[in-house]
Amino acid sequence: MLLSFEGSFAAPFESQQFAISVVSPHAVEAAEKTYASGGNLIDAAVASALTLAVTNPYFAALGGGGFALIHYSGKTYALDFRETAPAATHKAYYLSKDPKAPADGGAAVGVPGMVAGLWALHKKFGKKPWKGLFTEALKLADKGFAVSGEWYSYTTRAKPRLVVGQNAILIKNEVPKPGETLTQKKLADALHKIQVSGPKGFYEGAIASDIIRSVKKAGGELSLEDLKSYQVQWREPIKTSYKGHEILMMPPPSSAAVVMGAAFQMFDRQNLSSLSPGSSKELHLIAETLKRSFRGRYLLGDPKFVDNPVDQLLSPKYIEAQLASIRTDKAGTVSMADLKEVKESQETTHFSLMDREGNALAITVTLNGNYGSGVVTENYGIVLNNEMDDFTARPGEPNQFGLVQGEANQVEAGKRPLSSMSPTLVFKDGKVVASLGSPGGPRIISAVVQVIHRLLGNNMDMDQAIQFVRVHNQILPNKTYIDPLRSSEDTRKRLTDMGHIVEEDTVAKVYGVRRNSKGWFEAAHDSRGEGASGGL
Ligand code: DON
Repeated sequence: MLLSFEGSFAAPFESQQFAISVVSPHAVEAAEKTYASGGNLIDAAVASALTLAVTNPYFAALGGGGFALIHYSGKTYALDFRETAPAATHKAYYLSKDPKAPADGGAAVGVPGMVAGLWALHKKFGKKPWKGLFTEALKLADKGFAVSGEWYSYTTRAKPRLVVGQNAILIKNEVPKPGETLTQKKLADALHKIQVSGPKGFYEGAIASDIIRSVKKAGGELSLEDLKSYQVQWREPIKTSYKGHEILMMPPPSSAAVVMGAAFQMFDRQNLSSLSPGSSKELHLIAETLKRSFRGRYLLGDPKFVDNPVDQLLSPKYIEAQLASIRTDKAGTVSMADLKEVKESQETTHFSLMDREGNALAITVTLNGNYGSGVVTENYGIVLNNEMDDFTARPGEPNQFGLVQGEANQVEAGKRPLSSMSPTLVFKDGKVVASLGSPGGPRIISAVVQVIHRLLGNNMDMDQAIQFVRVHNQILPNKTYIDPLRSSEDTRKRLTDMGHIVEEDTVAKVYGVRRNSKGWFEAAHDSRGEGASGGL
């Protein structure tokens, strides 16, 4: 039994051939076995992801989606397997519905991208046959595994919201206790179908019918056409530089590159690394920078539907204008960005892998909330996302992450909701030196930016950088969140005195791998939650 709590010890891992940091030890085992039996890094990642759908379905189920940054044979790729809005939805879709509809039940479900995403990774980079990647996941689903403390707490919290096929993840209608063995025979059937038929086994046939019927039973509208027409998108990563390193980030429909790119430029111009790490003065400037970095997110949406002002939001002129209002002694009030300013003259899990061939993968997958929409399919026990809540579903109202979002992110059929997921790769002289990312909604961005600053600006190792205190401020709500147990009362008081509305709360959970100056891999996971690091 593995029970973890904030502030518990998280053992980092060192290896030479290949390393992985991920939420579950079963995923580490799947990756190690796949790699040791002749698979490459991508095969290892796909095998890991499939086990997560079994052992961590509250955020990594087959009914979700995600983003990945991949560095393979010297080239970097960005893969978007984000969910899309069903054809039946439109800008006013949620206005006449229950305020909870974007997040709870069938109407919250976006067309899942997970299976198409894993298939796309396999097709483009995989070495082993697709069928061989399912061994561990099938075993865990069919023979069962001992549920973790995290499983117990996530499932207990979600139980009142779970509908349709929830019995597939319960034992006699109860949440299994930590250490109890849970078998998921229906999910094993689903995995077997996908193993045999590839994505067609999910987007057509019996599984597709099960998804459609289950969504309908839970009050939503998702059609076979929605499922059959789902496509991943290969995108161009966005680059920025910081402390002599190149950082490759996820472009829209993730808001990662815009918010992180702005933050790094502001850190640099304020010479943040000259300040004492974790001091109230430094944390104040980080919070003020984040606020001003997040304001541009308001203007972003799916690039297929809107023209994102990415270049303008990352331009020196815009950055200078943000910096001008930062005071070193006092918190400021910042409003959301307005299009006029930038006209020319924004429950999940992440895992990271690196190998000795110089390849790397940073992949973040999500269902959005804990157990997504709460809809579990009837025949296959597949948990479905509530990614529709990432849209500006009800303009002017905050979503489950407190984000008040812009017009560019309104619901439209076939559109992808704006995301904060930030799988990120760091390069030095053209070679990947770190792969990282996190769950945590908008806090993901703040966490990834700060871990990179700790690595590059403060010369910490991967484990130190991940465990270090973090702050988060996304403008609305105008609160500065700070990790409890990692900051002193004195630091929090100083921030309050500077005008911050300080709230103690965990700022995301980062998983990362770094290649250190000796050429060794350091894989580390966050002691803010469960995690496992390993390699060969
Ligand atoms: O894409 C996004 O920004 C959100 N759906 C991510 C959700 C998330 O990280 C929840 N994790 N705690």
